[in-house]
Amino acid sequence: MRFYAVSGSAARQRTECAIVGLYESGTLSAAASQLDAALGGRIARLVKRRDARGKLGECTLLDADHAPCERVLLVGLGKKEGYGRKQYKKAMLAAAGAVAKTGARDAVSYLSSEPVHATDAYYRGRLAAESVGSALYRIPAIRSTRPAAAAALKSFGVAVPERDQQQEAERGLEHGRGIAAGASLTRDLANLPANVCTPSYLARQARELARQYRSVRVDVLDEPELRKLKMGSFLSVTAGTDEPARLIVMRHEGGAKGEAPVVLVGKGVTFDSGGISLKQPPGMDEMKFDMTGAASVFGAIKAAAEIGLQRNLIGVVPACENMPSGRATKPGDIVRSMSGQTIEVLNTDAEGRLILCDALTYSRRFKPALVVDVATLTGACVIALGAHTSAVMSNDDDLAAAIEEAGRRAEDRAWHMPMAEEYHDQLKSNFADFANACGRDGGAITAACFLAKFTEGLRWAHIDIAGTAYVTGAHKGSTGRPVPLLVDFLLNLP
Ligand code: BES
Ligand code: MN
Ligand code: ZN
Repeated sequence: MRFYAVSGSAARQRTECAIVGLYESGTLSAAASQLDAALGGRIARLVKRRDARGKLGECTLLDADHAPCERVLLVGLGKKEGYGRKQYKKAMLAAAGAVAKTGARDAVSYLSSEPVHATDAYYRGRLAAESVGSALYRIPAIRSTRPAAAAALKSFGVAVPERDQQQEAERGLEHGRGIAAGASLTRDLANLPANVCTPSYLARQARELARQYRSVRVDVLDEPELRKLKMGSFLSVTAGTDEPARLIVMRHEGGAKGEAPVVLVGKGVTFDSGGISLKQPPGMDEMKFDMTGAASVFGAIKAAAEIGLQRNLIGVVPACENMPSGRATKPGDIVRSMSGQTIEVLNTDAEGRLILCDALTYSRRFKPALVVDVATLTGACVIALGAHTSAVMSNDDDLAAAIEEAGRRAEDRAWHMPMAEEYHDQLKSNFADFANACGRDGGAITAACFLAKFTEGLRWAHIDIAGTAYVTGAHKGSTGRPVPLLVDFLLNLP
């Protein structure tokens, strides 16, 4: 997709599809009025007859043979007051979805030249490119029948009200395109079934990134190397499976040599059966998404490489399966982590923290400026925050605030949850330094407390994406979250 910015009247801009807004009150957006005049009042008549009502995301396609454009797509913007990022993104997603169903090869959106609360031309451009990328995403189908034809859309313009905002909008489009490319990779990897997307498959995809981008270097460690590093905790999770584990290290070298890197750690459990603490059958297929933290680290690295992020970024992905077998770790087994601390594995289904803790300890060798781990870590997080908001926990309140802020700007929300000394008591063990699981109360927080035992002295945050990583039900699939949040966070680091 080619993205570009334009300015000036909609009545003079050539395109195969002009996207203009209509508010619920019946008020036409500025560009809709310009086209309405060029079309002899056809848009206003449509609104007067109540054939278009301006409900947020409602799309009406008109033929416009006499205007400079071939089609007009009238998009409902809802209420004018309170029209913000969320509404803008929803309108853009609907518009891009509707354009993709037409034969239009080019479209220009004027939704970006209407005011959107607390945004500038940069963010309106960026969210537009992200939304187009997201609406055009198709799950890599593994079907015997021919897949649906791809959209005809090849180029997409966004309008700005003033010519001097064009450059800002273009910078936004460039970043949005990078974020969309990253999020699409995340979705592709996460949507794949676990019999395809294995730890070795992820390692191959990482090498592919290194082939595609000059800024990216990749190292893959196999099990003998993990044993040498004494990653007893990580290895205890992979013990029951025939599929070999991998530790994948990806570097995007965009900063000065010697600049302390930001390290992203992603949970890469390519299938979580629960192990000996086996899960119930309903919904178990969704545990193929248990590597979405890892996939979002892949996505962030790809976006950083696409955008040319001027920062040193390292992705660390522990990847394995969690399966039951005669060699599997059993409840009550005690393992020694790379940090030297011992862990009583009370529940083999609390495996995410067992692989993350060794990956976090490994991250110390990079002398990082900060470390953020991303994981579909707990069902308790879904109970606490549902499907719309990720949880953030951190040993640094400013870091947590910066992540929340990035989530707001990127419209990929996260919420700071507490993590205090009191919660640590729940992980006490009679036989080892601590246990990997405890009662259900505050489960997302106690999981973070477990990780905190491995991040002392690091500036560290943990993002639990168990609720936001994928949608369930009829539209089951990966959301690509939290790639927009991560990239926004990286772009806005001081
Ligand atoms: N991968 C799951 C968490 C999860 C649950 C993600 C539902 C997405 C949807 C994780 O490994 C897990 O099983 N956690 C346990 C921890 C418990 C045993 C302490 C959980 O949340 O039940
Ligand atoms: Mn589990
Ligand atoms: Zn898991």
